[in-house]
Amino acid sequence: MATSSAPGKVYLFGEHAVVYGEPAVLCAIERRARVTAEARDDDRLRVQANDLTLDGFTVTWGGDADDRPDVDVPTPLVEAAMGYIDGAVEQARDAADAPAAGFDVTVESEIPLGAGLGSSAAVVVACIDAATRELGVDLDAETVADRAYRVEHEVQDGEASRADTFCSAAGGAVHVQGDDCRRLDDTPNLPFVVGYDGGAGDTGELVAGVRSLREEFDFAADTVEAIGDVVRRGERALGDGDVEAVGRLMDFDHGLLSALGVSSRSLDTMVWAAREAGALGAKLTGAGGGGCIVALDRTEQTHTALQYTPGCEEAFRAELDADGVRAER
Ligand code: PMV
Repeated sequence: MATSSAPGKVYLFGEHAVVYGEPAVLCAIERRARVTAEARDDDRLRVQANDLTLDGFTVTWGGDADDRPDVDVPTPLVEAAMGYIDGAVEQARDAADAPAAGFDVTVESEIPLGAGLGSSAAVVVACIDAATRELGVDLDAETVADRAYRVEHEVQDGEASRADTFCSAAGGAVHVQGDDCRRLDDTPNLPFVVGYDGGAGDTGELVAGVRSLREEFDFAADTVEAIGDVVRRGERALGDGDVEAVGRLMDFDHGLLSALGVSSRSLDTMVWAAREAGALGAKLTGAGGGGCIVALDRTEQTHTALQYTPGCEEAFRAELDADGVRAER
């Protein structure tokens, strides 16, 4: 039996624009998905999942395509979750040259599903790591990131960037631009506060919406490029340890994302609650449409304000997690 964990993440800057080759900066946060893989003596896969936003479910499948689960949670969510785990196990089988390996997989996650905190990437990264180790193979973080990207790319019909999977595998703050993925060292302490509206956006739909705006209007294409400029500035501010400037640039980024139509009333409400509470900056994180915002505040004010903001279901402080994927046992 092998257990691995991998962190969720926030986008400090650059979601959506990263899809068009602009840079993005992401930070791993200390909320993790833990996956245990135990080899079976047949080629089947049994998955047990418990997390914040799905009631626990257990499914066993393998072999034929009609072998679908009978569980009491929304089918699209279960199928999406199973697609990720199926893909991760396939990658582990390939990496260990064990095409018929079967597993009992248990997923425990502290990361809300589909809310812009990289839950699927963390599950895929941890699952590949645990399942390959269970088969006696140790992969480095970069290889795990690459294999996890292939899974996301397939499950999300080619719309995924390398951002989430690299950040979850590598940990810390990372720069991602196309295939150029690297860790940013010497980043200052970033006092993250996350607000969660309890919902989730449809990443595919939101990415498609930005794509068609870009095709229709030159100024939408310019907006995407402007996000790239904000990211470059933000990365410099981060390197200078200028947390105030990072916050101002997060505000700017949120405005540009709103212009591209990917914010929502609840995300805007939480962003403004954070700003009025004195946050250094606040923005949505991830695809948008619902889910989470991230703010910077060294004091308790934003955390407290979000707890009393209508539409904010959960607010928490989050530390930057320097660790990426790691073995738990
Ligand atoms: O919602 P998330 O965490 O999956 O982030 C999506 C980020 C996008 O830039 C919109 C898409 C992508 O794959 O980079």
